[in-house]
Amino acid sequence: MNTRFFCHVAFILWRAGLLDAGITQTPRYLVTWKGDNVTFRCDPIKGHTWVYWYQQLLDKEITFLISFQSSTPMNDLGMHKLRFSAKCSQNSPCELSIQISEPGDSGIYFCASSETTVL
Ligand SMILES: *[C@@H]1O[C@H](CO)[C@@H](O)[C@H](O)[C@H]1NC(C)=O
Repeated sequence: MNTRFFCHVAFILWRAGLLDAGITQTPRYLVTWKGDNVTFRCDPIKGHTWVYWYQQLLDKEITFLISFQSSTPMNDLGMHKLRFSAKCSQNSPCELSIQISEPGDSGIYFCASSETTVL
């Protein structure tokens, strides 16, 4: 599942899931003002303990941001720590937040989940 994120304009558009893999990501589309903070949410598949976030900037390759196992960050080497943060807590969606969004953050943000480690 993925969330398309465009930074610059002043409205937020939601769209319900198209691909249903059991993961729910909200919002589906998000358009925001430059400088605003944004948060993406992801409900992993029930029973899955690993959660992964990926980013695909416009015209770029997909890159890995961070993984969690049972709410604990496992690998955050891909995170841009100055403005990006993520958290997963039990019984609530995982969140990926961007502070002071920039046009260069525009792209697609993917969330995935698995029972065990996936590269
Ligand atoms: C974004 O988050 C930062 C840090 O939490 C906060 O200081 C700032 O006021 C927020 N900006 C907006 C536009 O909400």
